Amino acid sequence: MCGIVAYVGHREAYPIIVKGLKRLEYRGYDSAGIALLNGGLNVYKKKGKVVDLEATLTEEELSSKIGIGHTRWATHGEPNDRNAHPHYSSNKNLAIIHNGIIENYDSLKKELTARGHVFHSDTDSEVFIHFIDDIYQNTKCSLEEAVRLALNKVVGAYAIVIIDENAPNQLIAARKGSPLVLGIGKDEFFLASDATPIIEYTNEVVYLNDYEIATIRDGSLSIRNVEDIPSTPYIQKLEMQLEAIEKGGYEHFMLKEIFEQPRSISDCMRGRLDANRGHLVLGGLREYINKIVNADRILIVACGTSWHAGTVAEYIFEEFTRIPVEVEYASEFRYRNPIIKEGDVVIAISQSGETADTLAAIELAKSKGAIIFGVCNVVGSSIARASHAGSYTHAGPEIGVASTKAFTAQVTVLTMVALLVAHRKGSITEARYHELLTDLEQIPVKVEKALALNKQIEYIADIFKDARNFLYLGRGYNFPVALEGALKLKEISYIHAEGYPAAEMKHGPIALIDEEMPVVFIATHDSSYEKIVSNIQEVKARKGKVIAVVTEGDTLIPKMADFIIEVPATNEAIMPLISVIPLQLLSYHIAVMRGCNVDQPRNLAKSVTVE
Ligand code: F6R
Repeated sequence: MCGIVAYVGHREAYPIIVKGLKRLEYRGYDSAGIALLNGGLNVYKKKGKVVDLEATLTEEELSSKIGIGHTRWATHGEPNDRNAHPHYSSNKNLAIIHNGIIENYDSLKKELTARGHVFHSDTDSEVFIHFIDDIYQNTKCSLEEAVRLALNKVVGAYAIVIIDENAPNQLIAARKGSPLVLGIGKDEFFLASDATPIIEYTNEVVYLNDYEIATIRDGSLSIRNVEDIPSTPYIQKLEMQLEAIEKGGYEHFMLKEIFEQPRSISDCMRGRLDANRGHLVLGGLREYINKIVNADRILIVACGTSWHAGTVAEYIFEEFTRIPVEVEYASEFRYRNPIIKEGDVVIAISQSGETADTLAAIELAKSKGAIIFGVCNVVGSSIARASHAGSYTHAGPEIGVASTKAFTAQVTVLTMVALLVAHRKGSITEARYHELLTDLEQIPVKVEKALALNKQIEYIADIFKDARNFLYLGRGYNFPVALEGALKLKEISYIHAEGYPAAEMKHGPIALIDEEMPVVFIATHDSSYEKIVSNIQEVKARKGKVIAVVTEGDTLIPKMADFIIEVPATNEAIMPLISVIPLQLLSYHIAVMRGCNVDQPRNLAKSVTVE
């Protein structure tokens, strides 16, 4: 939800900021802007993508060794030039970039308007900088102090950077609830919403904590919190490689990330699982495993695709650990006065580790004494830091807005956690435990085989690309896969799609079926195979078009389905890791054929840091 980048040092700021904004565009892309000190504080901003902004500028006029930039996902105010960031203060001596949401902006705006402030946008962010400036002008304190005083009054979430016309070597940044990473180079500093704009220049970073204010002035950095207490920056080394955030010859990040899955799933298991030795270790679980083993129940909180991974986990945990599991949308959980007991285990799943609802859900659960186990992809993210324990998914940066490799990595981690707990608890036999470890280890090779179906899936996509609706049906472990397949299709191709448990079809959705309706069945060979075969017949009897994902060698379903996609066999509990692959590819190809922006679908952002 909005990406921010800032630079101060000895290099030209503009190219660094523009490149950084392009890397952060997954966070929002409805307008972009920069502010530079080039003979005064100048703001350049435009509705649209970073390239649209670039097209209006000529590099010669942009020479500056300091600057701030923003790519927006609109919250307050429609996407247009006026509402794009940066925003000026009244005298245009300060400018701000802001990621987050200021909840009390309306009352602040009324107060400031009464004092003569004039606003030029509909945003909460403009109110924010006017408020800071108002304090700065009226108290004659330092800008840093004015920021601190203002932060004590604003309600909401923010990552901000402020540039001051009268301080050409100074940037002031702060965060609460929205991420902000500070890169430290030789005589230069970088600030960004994540590390991707920074890694090209330095691998030394500081992840700012909530309520911290960083002041970079004349080549040195100081950090104080909103109570004015100083702290020593904790410098960490980035392990990310530059190639991981580039397209590497693929047409889209999404396609690259789909094809990366054999590797990302292996990376997720690396050093943790060795089936030959019967070895399964998750370092992040060690201290807490007994708490999970002894838990009366497990709650899983997540949103979107991560919620689907949580639903797969519910099936796995209940089957193998016999601990009752509830999977909750974080947004519902946090507002419905949930029953949480001391010692309950809450598993929070989040690719970005920044999703506002998931973060708020775990804060609520923590306040009631629950133990939080985080499953995040982004290292150092807010949810990872707010958890008592956790396991990273190690899928590498996911840049396509539609989640693909993060899902399979989440399911892999959660399967390992469930197996560890079941083994410790004695709720799984030794033989079954070892069989599952072996099956899990073989998943990357089988995913590779599923990816080899790409051309065949492209062919099917071409036939159905103009459909107006799709149904996705699955049972058991493949039910969450049906949900995920439908979500993938709707979010990137804008075709209406619904995922259902196959047996539920009779209770309503069957009314939709006619010769126009493609129905994707995830019908691999498992314990509900016979049942799903009957569901396929019910659809065929109503002339629906059936695309079936089946296990290699299936002889029955090919006789009924219009199209079949054969995937390698595995244990049904981990089949989602394979059966989801054709659905990711199907949605990808349909979206490309419909001319959609696959990596940056309309209205979406990768990291939803507002509720
Ligand atoms: C769908 C998608 C979203 C996210 C959701 C949660 O492709 O990407 O549904 O899964 O916004 O995001 P994280 O996992 O970052 O908490």
